[in-house]
Amino acid sequence: MATYPLKVHEKRMECDDTASLWLDVPQDLTGAFTYRPGQFLTVENDDGGELIARQYSLSSCPGAHAKLRITVKKIEGGRMSAWLVDRTQEGDYLDVQIPRGRFFKDLDAPHHVLMLAAGSGIAPILSIGRWLLESAQGHAVTIVYGNRTPETVILADEVAEIAERHADSCRVEQVMSRADDSWTGARGRIDRAYIEARFDDWRAASDLPMVVYMCGPEGFMDSAESALMGAGLPSGAIHRESFDMILEDDETKPGLEVTAEDDTGEEGPTSRIVAIVGGEEYEADWQEGEDILSALLRAEADVPFSCQEGTCSSCISKLTAGKVEVRPGVLQTLRKDDLEEGLTLACLSRPLTRNIRIDFDEI
Ligand SMILES: Cc1cc2nc3c(=O)[nH]c(=O)nc-3n(C[C@H](O)[C@H](O)[C@H](O)COP(=O)(O)OP(=O)(O)OC[C@H]3O[C@@H](n4cnc5c(N)ncnc54)[C@H](O)[C@@H]3O)c2cc1C
Ligand code: FES
Repeated sequence: MATYPLKVHEKRMECDDTASLWLDVPQDLTGAFTYRPGQFLTVENDDGGELIARQYSLSSCPGAHAKLRITVKKIEGGRMSAWLVDRTQEGDYLDVQIPRGRFFKDLDAPHHVLMLAAGSGIAPILSIGRWLLESAQGHAVTIVYGNRTPETVILADEVAEIAERHADSCRVEQVMSRADDSWTGARGRIDRAYIEARFDDWRAASDLPMVVYMCGPEGFMDSAESALMGAGLPSGAIHRESFDMILEDDETKPGLEVTAEDDTGEEGPTSRIVAIVGGEEYEADWQEGEDILSALLRAEADVPFSCQEGTCSSCISKLTAGKVEVRPGVLQTLRKDDLEEGLTLACLSRPLTRNIRIDFDEI
């Protein structure tokens, strides 16, 4: 997919290993870079002759900030994160794709939004939390933010600032797993035991129906989700964003079917795949065994993609005609009700009907 050079306006070290980069959006690109809270940018870089691409959630908030901000934690031995945190400077340009992702879907009525973040997982949580509070739609927000020590906490000043500005509707609970005795707040990990111990208190903070947004390591989110479901929350009320790049897909399990809502397609051998991207229409033929993304890339369609293995969320798209079979690993990124709406990941999907129409804009 096309990338655009965006200038690094400001770089701020949040702690030893994490940097925030504020990016300027030129006037003629403001439409293309309009985003929903919780979406991410894909950054590309030439790393020793190899083009690498990685996703970074926007920690800025639409409406509140004119510039875009990503907040990057340096991973030991990481190719992109080390370059962004250690070597990128103010005035440099980053090649970035337009915002993608569907972590957050607007809420149609006031809710109590419980937000669980671990470490750099605060990036999309802060964006969504601020947006919910500043949109003045009557939501109550509880942010539970876990870190090792106070020195490793990132974006803490902003979390505190929105909590103070919306003191009647926002509560923040910081939890440290390895703080010294000077820390007087909550201690531990946000694990099953912590959630079970705190859930009734969180619930009592508001009578509104509860939804949960969480972001952090996969293991943290697995145990949080199972504790929340054990406390009575339906799975449809729990939304997760994964930064992990490993697909958990059981090869022995059959695929899941996704069918377009309005046009279920004609049975028979697939002959044509049509994709809508950036308002343009691309057409591809299909070769037995290949996934939809591969067919579109062979036809040189300008579709968003990066990992090609179901982990980065870049190829989220909506089926508008026909039926596909998608690998069950898709549930790491999308939920069952997303699939029922026709959403899928093109790189994990194979066509089941004669014609397929798939829209990468309408996500
Ligand atoms: C939708 C999405 C949003 C994301 N948002 C953010 C964000 O806001 N901030 C942020 O810092 N990162 C974010 N990430 C993670 C980011 O895309 C990269 O995976 C991360 O920066 C590592 O890339 P790298 O090139 O430095 O490491 P690589 O060179 O790819 O990997 C180096 C080593 O680190 C391991 N590794 C890779 N990724 C991770 C990880 N996330 N945690 C632990 N170990 C890892 C690899 O297995 C490998 O051993 C996001 C990922 C996704 C899919
Ligand atoms: S290209 Fe990464 S999820 Fe499909």
